[in-house]
Amino acid sequence: MKEYNVAILGATGAVGIRMVDQLANSTVPVKSLKLLASAHSAGKVMDFNGEKITVEETTPESFDGVDLVLASAGGAASKKFLPEAVKRGAVCVDNTSAFRMDPEVPLVVPEVNPEQLKNHKGIIANPNCSTIQMVVALAPVFKKYGLKQVIVSTYQAASGAGQSALNEFYQQAKDYLEGKQMSADILPTAGDKKHYPLAFNLLPQIDVFEDEGYTHEEWKMIHETKKIMLNDMDATDLKVTATCVRVPVPISHGESVYFEVEDKSATAEDIKKTISDAAGVTLQDDPDHQVYPQPLNAEGKRETFAGRIRPDQENKGCFNMWVVADNLLKGAAWNTVENAERLVDEDLVKVPKNYYQK
Ligand SMILES: NC(=O)c1ccc[n+]([C@@H]2O[C@H](COP(=O)([O-])OP(=O)(O)OC[C@H]3O[C@@H](n4cnc5c(N)ncnc54)[C@H](OP(=O)(O)O)[C@@H]3O)[C@@H](O)[C@H]2O)c1
Repeated sequence: MKEYNVAILGATGAVGIRMVDQLANSTVPVKSLKLLASAHSAGKVMDFNGEKITVEETTPESFDGVDLVLASAGGAASKKFLPEAVKRGAVCVDNTSAFRMDPEVPLVVPEVNPEQLKNHKGIIANPNCSTIQMVVALAPVFKKYGLKQVIVSTYQAASGAGQSALNEFYQQAKDYLEGKQMSADILPTAGDKKHYPLAFNLLPQIDVFEDEGYTHEEWKMIHETKKIMLNDMDATDLKVTATCVRVPVPISHGESVYFEVEDKSATAEDIKKTISDAAGVTLQDDPDHQVYPQPLNAEGKRETFAGRIRPDQENKGCFNMWVVADNLLKGAAWNTVENAERLVDEDLVKVPKNYYQK
């Protein structure tokens, strides 16, 4: 069996440490593994399948001899290093937003659009965490009944902003309970002018504000959904709008998803059956026994959970649904490794001659 030299870029981050674990529990045959980060973590030792591996500072030469890169070190590091890795013959699955909207880069959720993998030119993008869990739940409905519009409100966990944001949130909660002043230096978003505590609070801002009062996270949900489901980031035949909110939960995002199908004969029972038959999504929908998806139960699981599916009483063909998934696993590390498994299965771990060169 063919084996691969793999590198994980950003191996010490909230997503990266889970990539190491997901890779160890995957079908990807690993010949060697390099763990890469910034100078800050160089020398740290991490475990992979019982093997102790020392984290190295990333340079372009780090990718010499590497076949497959799983990247999660932020957009700037991906833009700097992934073209270098591709030039050296490595296929990269990138978890950052650096290449997601590039028409030359497939944006892939294996349960939804795996056929796009074969179009890669060396880089495959992993969608944003909040988009992934929504499309995993909606895609089977879209394929069977068609979709006209989606209105989503998210309830996103602190860890979605990285390990340092999660640490800040825990410290705020501790300080608040001890009657101390809470301080905030990261959330709602590291690069913005003001910072607010998340503990015992809600922050209706994820990432920076862009056109017409939408945040970049909301913009990503709209256009990534269209690119994944219709292969066109600006498609107008599916209408999508989003409100993204950071909530004081450590891990796993929740989403209230309102959607309208094209086939008006579809009932809530049809929608539930379609979702329960689909890959990667588990139906947890039993109001009589108070069964519905919750962040605490989703943490550490690879699948997406859907429930509270019910018809809009006044608009036929419209439904409400509640979706939860571990943002660090299905929203990031597992989707990346799952894409890598598919690339291996389909013998696509090779860089084509017309490789990505921007
Ligand atoms: N958290 C989520 O739920 C989630 C979901 C989907 C996508 N993402 C995306 O995934 C990426 C990483 O997120 P995260 O939450 O894991 O962040 P994080 O906890 O802050 O970790 C960042 C990682 O990147 C490394 N790094 C930073 N700058 C680097 C550089 N210049 N060169 C090499 N390595 C560098 C860090 O290494 P050091 O230890 O040396 O600092 C660390 O390993 C981001 O682009 C994020 O938007 C995150």
